[in-house]
Amino acid sequence: MKIMQKLKQKIHDSKFKSEAAKRRNKGDTMSTGISLKGKKAVVFGVATDKSIGWSIAKALNDNGCQIALGYQERAGEYVKELAKELKDPFLAPCDMVADEFIENFFEKIEKEFGKFDFLIHSVAFAKKDYLQGKFYEVPRRAYNTAQEVSAYSLTAITRESVKRKLLNDNGVILSMTYLGSVMAIQNYNVMGVAKAALESITRYLAMDLGENGIRVNAISAGPIPTLAASGIAGFDKILEHAKGKSLLKRNIDAEDVGNTAVFLCSDLSRNITGQVIYVDAGYSVNGL
Ligand SMILES: NC(=O)c1ccc[n+]([C@@H]2O[C@H](COP(=O)([O-])OP(=O)(O)OC[C@H]3O[C@@H](n4cnc5c(N)ncnc54)[C@H](O)[C@@H]3O)[C@@H](O)[C@H]2O)c1
Repeated sequence: MKIMQKLKQKIHDSKFKSEAAKRRNKGDTMSTGISLKGKKAVVFGVATDKSIGWSIAKALNDNGCQIALGYQERAGEYVKELAKELKDPFLAPCDMVADEFIENFFEKIEKEFGKFDFLIHSVAFAKKDYLQGKFYEVPRRAYNTAQEVSAYSLTAITRESVKRKLLNDNGVILSMTYLGSVMAIQNYNVMGVAKAALESITRYLAMDLGENGIRVNAISAGPIPTLAASGIAGFDKILEHAKGKSLLKRNIDAEDVGNTAVFLCSDLSRNITGQVIYVDAGYSVNGL
């Protein structure tokens, strides 16, 4: 718990505040002008107000979509407080470590939230010990945990959503990835391998579900200071480096990802599926 508090303190530090967060007043909405009125989303991966999952939930909600949050028990207190900012939310705990927990969660969704249109996966975990040093040091168990929680879980939540006929036809599935999937990035190590699997899963799910008009995409975000990111050794340096090398000479915000999620959930992106969409201020295409 002490660690959680310490990390929360760190991400509340003003030097980590995004430009968008500094600009925004409390209570401001993130309306994009795209209407998602009458739509419903299940969002996994909110732990703090800096979580990318939170920015996505907030952006979808601000544009008219009702939200169900699946959260990790240990973040429960904080998530319940945060959810007061959402209109008409549904909340239930869900840990991705076992299918049983995922099944129980979707049973609740079936009974109490009903069918939905968007399934958002913004979840990742690897032990801090293996987000530094040599990749080859990762033991089998830590490797498997990273894969199960960060990649396989997308398959499991999709299966539950589809088999229970909860995800409406023409729905959207989104997950969060990072450049470390396709490039070797120091310290990202085991998570990079999990992200490679996640991106591949995105393409296979897009193939499975295309006949239902369901689109499956991943957003590859530039570095953002969040709880998960603070577990990666040297993350401050990654942020600095990303700003310098990005074509736009700036870092991105979680809000940028929220807005991209609104676009990818809307009909404006109706023919985009199986893709990894980069939201990184042009970092990944700068060759020098
Ligand atoms: N922050 C970045 O720089 C960055 C960049 C690109 C992609 N991403 C990805 O964005 C996603 C969200 O991460 P974030 O940066 O917002 O950090 P975060 O710590 O706010 O969110 C991670 C979430 O994963 C959840 N989680 C971890 N283990 C879980 C488990 N066993 N069961 C259920 N939930 C579990 C946590 O509760 C938390 O809500 C992750 O997939 C991450 O890899 C982050």
